Amino acid sequence: MLKIAVIGGDGTGPEVVREGLKVLERIAKLEKFKAQTTEFDLGGEKFLKTGEVLPDETLEALKKFDAIYLGAVGHPDVPPGILEKGLLLRLRFELDLYINLRPVKLYPGVDCPLKDKKPEDIDFVIVRENTEDLYVGMGGFAHKNTKQEVATQVMLSTYFGVERCVRYAFELTRKRNRKKLLTLVAKTNVLTYAHDLWWRVFKEIATEYPDIKTDYNHVDACCMWMVKNPEFYDVVVTTNMFGDIITDLGAMIQGGMGIAAGGNIHPSKVSMFEPIGGSAPKYTGKNQINPLAAIGALGMLLEHTGHEKAGRRVEKAVAKVAGELESLSAGKMGCTTTEVGDRVCEAL
Ligand code: IPM
Ligand code: MN
Repeated sequence: MLKIAVIGGDGTGPEVVREGLKVLERIAKLEKFKAQTTEFDLGGEKFLKTGEVLPDETLEALKKFDAIYLGAVGHPDVPPGILEKGLLLRLRFELDLYINLRPVKLYPGVDCPLKDKKPEDIDFVIVRENTEDLYVGMGGFAHKNTKQEVATQVMLSTYFGVERCVRYAFELTRKRNRKKLLTLVAKTNVLTYAHDLWWRVFKEIATEYPDIKTDYNHVDACCMWMVKNPEFYDVVVTTNMFGDIITDLGAMIQGGMGIAAGGNIHPSKVSMFEPIGGSAPKYTGKNQINPLAAIGALGMLLEHTGHEKAGRRVEKAVAKVAGELESLSAGKMGCTTTEVGDRVCEAL
């Protein structure tokens, strides 16, 4: 029995997750496995009513599931940072989900904003470190609200954190078995401490993987190559902050936020899967948001929890429907959110 904790969250999160769960029911029947879902009411609405973001008991309860399926976090009436730090980042940190895995794949028939690029040119995976860097929230203010104000935000990297992330990326490159190329993306020419550590660890671990070719890009150059020559990439490993930025760029070249899925992973503990786009308040409740990213995240969840065949089938169905929609953008798909979910079920 696969036990999944479901957090619909904010905005369009619950709508896209609903379609994912519809697909789960269908694939479970087809592949003959049992799945049980438990909904958790978390997010902006709950915070506004109760003042609570993520109660400790809830966090403890979440640890007992096989996986967590998350819709979106972010509410227009809640000041920035409260839900992001209190819910999403707290889950990533406290569950030690040290990998943020974000595939960038252009499916056949999907519009790509890059001229002349085809599905065979855009197929790589970004491994984003998920527990360190500027995200740890170290730093502070002095002399706040004066002309002498000082603000610091610490970019933290540890040997432990970098090593486990880089090792995961090497293993994944081997497992993918495509170009067998792992590219480190950092900024060693400026961040001569934190990224020097990344560079040295990368070189050190590389000696254990003689079958994997390695490359290095500064992050600014990576943004250039992702647009100009995305076919260069197979697996990219990078820091939390840079990974946040380049995965949005990755989402755009694969057709937009409507299709971009990701996993927050601890290889041996409960992991969390989510569409990488936000809560899209503008589209909330309109049945217009694209649920394919959330359904793709469900596919990743299944693959991660030992249902590889089911996960691959879901991905194939998502790819098929993605290629058939008028557009992947909310409101322009040529059908509704629920119809997209139905079409994925049919494709299965
Ligand atoms: C993401 C999001 C989050 C991040 C925000 C909502 C905190 O942008 O998952 O990429 O910065 O990691
Ligand atoms: Mn982001």
